[in-house]
Amino acid sequence: MIGRLNHVAIVVPDLAAASRIYRQVLGAQVSEPVDLPEHGVTTVFVELPNTKIELLHPLGEGSPIAKFLERNPDGGMHHLCYEVDDIAAARDGLVGDGARVLGDGEPKIGAHNKPVLFLHPKDFCGTLIELEQV
Ligand code: CO
Repeated sequence: MIGRLNHVAIVVPDLAAASRIYRQVLGAQVSEPVDLPEHGVTTVFVELPNTKIELLHPLGEGSPIAKFLERNPDGGMHHLCYEVDDIAAARDGLVGDGARVLGDGEPKIGAHNKPVLFLHPKDFCGTLIELEQV
């Protein structure tokens, strides 16, 4: 059912420092920071030949990644995003298999202006999974 790995998301304590590491130390193509207030994050996109890395930093009060950064003050891997063709069909199949969808279970528009859902890490090997309809 899942297709390509769309991105790996990493929460970082300092976006400028993380951007410098990816741009100058690792030699990747790195975007300017993009605020996504409706998701409570600021994102920097790192383009790799076969996938993307998203560097995430909390934005505003009540950011969903603030606690993650408290528990992981140096930053760390936050989620993997897999592509699916039909997010509603994917969700219905997964829920039918007993998987838990975070939030109200309805797809939201994600960082790439496409519908996304998050799946509970306890159901997927301890890894938060994002599905993105492409
Ligand atoms: Co993501």
